[in-house]
Amino acid sequence: MDELEPPIRLVNVHKRFGALTVLDGVSFDIPRGRTTAIIGPSGTGKSVMLKHIVGLIRPDEGEVRVFGTDMARAGEDKVYAVRKRLGMLFQDGALFDSLSTGENIEFPLRQHHPELSAEERRERVEEALAMVELPGLYDRPTPALSGGQRKRVGLARAIITRPELVLFDEPNSGLDPMTSDAIDALIGHLKATLGVTFVVISHDIVGTVNVADHIAMLYQGKLVAWGSTAEVTRSEHPIVRRFLGRNLILPEPGGEGVASLPRMG
Ligand SMILES: Nc1ncnc2c1ncn2[C@@H]1O[C@H](COP(=O)(O)OP(=O)(O)OP(=O)(O)O)[C@@H](O)[C@H]1O
Ligand SMILES: [Mg+2]
Repeated sequence: MDELEPPIRLVNVHKRFGALTVLDGVSFDIPRGRTTAIIGPSGTGKSVMLKHIVGLIRPDEGEVRVFGTDMARAGEDKVYAVRKRLGMLFQDGALFDSLSTGENIEFPLRQHHPELSAEERRERVEEALAMVELPGLYDRPTPALSGGQRKRVGLARAIITRPELVLFDEPNSGLDPMTSDAIDALIGHLKATLGVTFVVISHDIVGTVNVADHIAMLYQGKLVAWGSTAEVTRSEHPIVRRFLGRNLILPEPGGEGVASLPRMG
C-alpha cells in the first residue's frame, strides 16, 4: 500500500443506477488526520459516495483508492486489509437485530482482532458503551433500542477497533440537541487522537462547520465546492451560498470562536 497517497483518493468516479446518474465524474483527495465534511442536498449521492469508499458499491468508471488500494479492483484480501483500518457509521445504523447491543459493538473486534481474548473484548465494549453514554446496556436486545440509542451503538461499533479512518454518515440526525452536542464533542476528542482521519456527512450546517477542517459539497452528481472550511463558507458560488444560507457568519481569520447563525426573530 502506498502510504504517501492521501488516505482516500477519488478519481473521476461515475455511478449510475439505471437511468439515474448519481456521481458524474467526482475527483478529490481526503487529507490524512483531518476532518472532511461532505455536504449537499438530500439524494445527491453522499451516502453512495461513502459506500464506494468502503467497497460496498463499485463505480461504473473511475477509481476509489483507500490507503492506496483501488477498492473496486483489488482482491478480497486487500479489501479486507483496508476495512480493518476503517470504521463506518451507516446512516440507518445498520445494526444486526439478532445480536444484542454489546454483541453488535463487539462484531468488528471479532472479525478483525482474533488476538483479543473474550475478556479483553468485553472490556473494550463496556468502555465504548460508557463513552456513548449507554453504560450497562450490553445485553439489551437491539430491537428494544430507541432511534438515538441505535445511532450511538452504531457510533460505538464504528470506533471500537480504534480505526485510522472513520466515516460517519449523519451522526447527529435524529438526536436531541444535547446528545448531538455530545457526539460532536466525541468527534473532537477522537480528532485529537493523532492520525485519525474523519469523513462526516451531515445536514447540520453549524455543527459541521464547527468540526470540519475541509468541506466538499456535492450537487447533482458533481463536486461544486472543495476546500478548507473557511474557503467553502466564504464561497460566492450561488449553489453553495443557497445551501449554506446567506447568514452563516465566520470569525475573522486568526480570531477565536466558531461559526454561528444569528438568532432568529
Ligand atoms: N442501491 C441503489 N439502487 C438504486 N438507487 C440508489 C441506490 N442507492 C442510492 N440510490 C439513489 O441514489 C441517489 C443518491 O442516494 P444517497 O443515499 O447517496 O443520497 P444522500 O445524498 O445520502 O441523501 P440524504 O441526504 O437524504 O441521505 C438517490 O436518488 C437514491 O435513491
Ligand atoms: Mg445519505
